[in-house]
Amino acid sequence: MSKIQLSTKTDELNLNDFIEPVISELSLVEKQLNTNLIDDNLIINELLSMIFKAGGKRIRPLLVLHSAWATNLSEELNDLQIILAVLTELIHTASLVHDDILDSAAVRRGSQTINKRFSDRLAVLLGDLLFAQASICLSKIMSPVIVGIYGQVLGDLCAGEIQQMKQQFSTTISWQDYIKKSISKTGSLFAAGTHSAAILNNANNETVMALKNYGLHLGLCFQIVDDLLDFTGDSTTLGKEAGSDLKSGIITAPALFVLERGDKVANKLEKLISTKEISEPESLQIALDLIKNNGGIESTIDLAKEYGQKAKDNLKDLPNSIYRDALAGFTDYVLKRVN
Ligand code: FPP
Ligand code: MG
Repeated sequence: MSKIQLSTKTDELNLNDFIEPVISELSLVEKQLNTNLIDDNLIINELLSMIFKAGGKRIRPLLVLHSAWATNLSEELNDLQIILAVLTELIHTASLVHDDILDSAAVRRGSQTINKRFSDRLAVLLGDLLFAQASICLSKIMSPVIVGIYGQVLGDLCAGEIQQMKQQFSTTISWQDYIKKSISKTGSLFAAGTHSAAILNNANNETVMALKNYGLHLGLCFQIVDDLLDFTGDSTTLGKEAGSDLKSGIITAPALFVLERGDKVANKLEKLISTKEISEPESLQIALDLIKNNGGIESTIDLAKEYGQKAKDNLKDLPNSIYRDALAGFTDYVLKRVN
């Protein structure tokens, strides 16, 4: 097993380190994201460019492109890998457009959400249109296996949101529930992108499974970090109020670590959540302090690091390449967000 390390120091990692090796492929992805595959309706063209010009880090397409190169044994990259990257970002964006309706969110990626700028009704339709674009991309790949993988992702995204909705203000949520929800919301799509890229390269089963487990664990690491930032971030960087998950009764790792103590501190937190008092600003502050002063943040950082390491471990048997190093570097990049 060779050592996996990017040339850049971990604390200096930035997104450009991952963009640069695949810059030409990423520009093709960008072009296709803005292409209306449905008709030549000007309104739809404008909505698409409004959504995709609003930013986004393109982490999922980058993961697809690096996985594609990391498992590519020839000089050329199959054109279908670009479509796979596009389809993965389309599904992610569609789910966010719908998520912002569910969360009544006003800001996403520093811009007004579609629901806020227009209406919930238009956001439902635009999200559906993005899913339709993704379906057209999926058909171009002509692989029943990949259709099955992405069909499962769509189901997982919905199931994860339903589970979250049903467990709001529940203090009996287990670690298993939390991990399952995080896989559904984030791990499933990450894993779909990384291992479908290997499948398109006709990689062997071990390689496909390694890329699948890499994506799954990186997705979990990413979601745990995202949940943590809800406690530690400020509203400018988060694009939403800090503590907003807890305020709406969404129980994530930092709260779970305190609840599982089963002591006085846990009982106090449990009461604030189950009575929904936590939605009031003063009680929310008390709960946030309880979590911060009782190790909730530190334990969550350790948990995210554990999943980051598990993600990396899956890359050890891939051939040595800058793309494999970039995949390994992604875990450090995700974890850097907590520092
Ligand atoms: C962000 O969660 C949202 C998701 C990761 C997935 C949302 C999925 C749906 C709304 C279902 C999609 C529908 C279909 C038809 C597939 P978050 O609210 O925790 O993160 P945020 O802070 O970025 O909003
Ligand atoms: Mg949301």
